[in-house]
Amino acid sequence: MQNDIEGILVSRDTIREKVIELGKRISKDYEGKDLVLVGVLKGGFVFLADLMRELSIPVDMDLISVSSYGASTKSSGVVRIIKDIDINVANKHVLLVEDIVDTGLTLKYLKELFYTRGPLSVKVCTAFDKPSRRKVEIEVEYCGIEIPDKFVIGYGLDYAGKYRNLPDLCTLSPKVYMKE
Ligand code: PRP
Repeated sequence: MQNDIEGILVSRDTIREKVIELGKRISKDYEGKDLVLVGVLKGGFVFLADLMRELSIPVDMDLISVSSYGASTKSSGVVRIIKDIDINVANKHVLLVEDIVDTGLTLKYLKELFYTRGPLSVKVCTAFDKPSRRKVEIEVEYCGIEIPDKFVIGYGLDYAGKYRNLPDLCTLSPKVYMKE
């Protein structure tokens, strides 16, 4: 596995510092408010698990699993809900928790979806952001670390389903995806 990794882009220590900082900000901003964290699977679960343990306020949480309709239609921004949340978010504040924002299409779709459910607010918290890849304008209220347009794996992010368990955010060696 080590041979497939080109190098570390963001270390586990840097990620940890950012998670603590975001946890403090979110705890302050949502103090006294009814907050539901919605983790976006699969990638978002590692960040969600770390982030929620840095919150000093009571929160509810749930998970949503989404998938875009294949590569050819990804630009359409149509997202398929594989597993929806069980919680009713009406009159609650929703914070969508993602591992990465790339084109922004997934979160644009999810924000619009959640706004139809009568929440008090819908905001976004992402561990990583690739702003250079954006195709649609989307406000990212809580952003951990901006990264360049490289193929990244680890901390929840995968390549062909693997490497989500790496504790650091790493770059994938081009020879791995050039093989295909
Ligand atoms: C990733 C990530 C976001 C989405 C971001 O998920 O977790 O949900 O892509 O991309 P976008 O801004 O271009 O829409 P992915 O489709 O890789 O699924 P996974 O989390 O299950 O690996």
